[in-house]
Amino acid sequence: MASVTSLSDSVQQHLASALSATRPEAAGADPLLRRSDRADYQANGILALAKKAKANPRELAAEVVARITTGGLIEDVEVSGPGFLNITVGDRAITENLAARYADGERLGVPLKEDAGVTVVDYAQPNVAKEMHVGHLRSAVIGDALRGMLDFTGERTIGRHHIGDWGTQFGMLIQYLFEHPGELAPAEDVDGEQAMSNLNRVYKASRAVFDADEEFKERARKRVVALQSGDKETLELWQQFVDESKVYFYSVFEKLDMEIRDDEIVGESAYNEGMPETARLLEEMGVAVRSEGALVVFFDEIRGKDDQPVPLIVQKADGGFGYAASDLTAIRNRVQDLDATTLLYVVDVRQSLHFRMVFETARRAGWLNDGVTAHNMGYGTVLGADGKPFKTRAGETVRLEDLLDEAVQRAAEVVREKARDLTEDEIQERAAQVGIGAVKYADLSTSPSRDYKFDLDQMVSLNGDTSVYLQYAYARIRSILRKAGEVAPAAHPELELHAAERALGLHLDAFGDTVFEAAAEYAPHKLTAYLYQAASLFTSFYDKCPVLKAETPQQVENRLFLCDVTARTLHRGMALLGIRTPERL
Ligand code: ARG
Repeated sequence: MASVTSLSDSVQQHLASALSATRPEAAGADPLLRRSDRADYQANGILALAKKAKANPRELAAEVVARITTGGLIEDVEVSGPGFLNITVGDRAITENLAARYADGERLGVPLKEDAGVTVVDYAQPNVAKEMHVGHLRSAVIGDALRGMLDFTGERTIGRHHIGDWGTQFGMLIQYLFEHPGELAPAEDVDGEQAMSNLNRVYKASRAVFDADEEFKERARKRVVALQSGDKETLELWQQFVDESKVYFYSVFEKLDMEIRDDEIVGESAYNEGMPETARLLEEMGVAVRSEGALVVFFDEIRGKDDQPVPLIVQKADGGFGYAASDLTAIRNRVQDLDATTLLYVVDVRQSLHFRMVFETARRAGWLNDGVTAHNMGYGTVLGADGKPFKTRAGETVRLEDLLDEAVQRAAEVVREKARDLTEDEIQERAAQVGIGAVKYADLSTSPSRDYKFDLDQMVSLNGDTSVYLQYAYARIRSILRKAGEVAPAAHPELELHAAERALGLHLDAFGDTVFEAAAEYAPHKLTAYLYQAASLFTSFYDKCPVLKAETPQQVENRLFLCDVTARTLHRGMALLGIRTPERL
């Protein structure tokens, strides 16, 4: 693996050294670079520097320009306005840099970061014995994409699916199962759909008894105590619910084309044993106090209606532990046992107050310290076409599976319309890749903190910023490469480039920089925007520059090479986001 410095970083280095040679006090200054319409890059750090040095910006800029050697990497540099530099990169530099990336293979020359840490990503956390709905979609999709990007930069990620597998609701379920043995088919005998319908049936039946029969209610309450104190028989029945639910979860995640590892499913129950200690430590340290029998933490800044402080409840007055205790115990585990340097939570923004209080408590207890960052990536709501939270016509929450099935069905129509030489099996396979890709892309291409409308028509549209558009671009390039037959892509740095080739080449070169930025900011939409632009730049390149019919054999090879770098970049970028790129569409 050979990593390649991006053109923009190289230009930046040139500028920085020219700057510090001109003004030694500028050593270490960052001449901010950005892509610009007027030139390949525009640097605008001079203005600030001139202010600092009390110099005339135009003169300072001219001095810097005089120190830059042109002809190699930098073909041309000129002062534009006060303090701006317009920089043009040489054709040869572009082709050579891309060639180095091409030679590197899979990673496209993107380096691994040196200061890699361990990020524990808490995502895809459905609840046991409950149906997954559209709200669970975002956590899974965003979390998976963030992991893909972070891993690519060299960060080590550990997944934690903090599933809701603990709590008082299990008393009712387990008691019912205890009194009606055999109601839940063994997990190994059912598929996802059967598992969920079994769970629904048991849930409804137990609820009915619970509501109608006071004595059952009492037995269910006792069952909660038995569960919490680790009664063997109770735990066995509880385990049946968890196993049955996992069959269901796995079937949905498979539909979502997402790999979930069993050892990373560490739900609330896993922290059960540690919770009393968490409470004890918090009380001993004085972080938590007793209030009306409960153990709670207060915060000056967090107040509810009537200006009353809203506490975090670590332990209820009846001795029970809840959601906060499991999250606090999980933090201890993730920091102390997993050596996490970053805790990332991909959880609905509506839980942001919970996390604020949990993080603050953990900080006061010293479990979160300067060596660890905790961040809740609170994501927005999925809305229906009417702009209200997504519901079925009957006003119910939408089952995630139904939604995915519909997306695949809609994608099949699109694929079938375009498919000239695909068999029915191939159409179905592509439809799954296109439909699921469309759902993921639509989610990822919106800034996570914002709400977005779930609009299948728009998601599978061939025009516009959609995954289908990108998948078609990829498939088209693959088809060009197949048509080239014997002629292999090859870089020819000696060739002059067309403006459209330059624009595409410069953009492709920025892939690694973009992934690093998107990963550092937890912003998958920056990567989707980049990929969309790559596909658009490819389209205009392909419009303006004949590939297989180019003028010389060298030019054919060089353009095929540009095609292939584009294809690899699209493929890699989409893969990081969890989206497939079929070879043919
Ligand atoms: N299971 C929870 C829910 O469906 C989400 C869990 C989020 N993660 C956490 N560590 N609290 O609302």
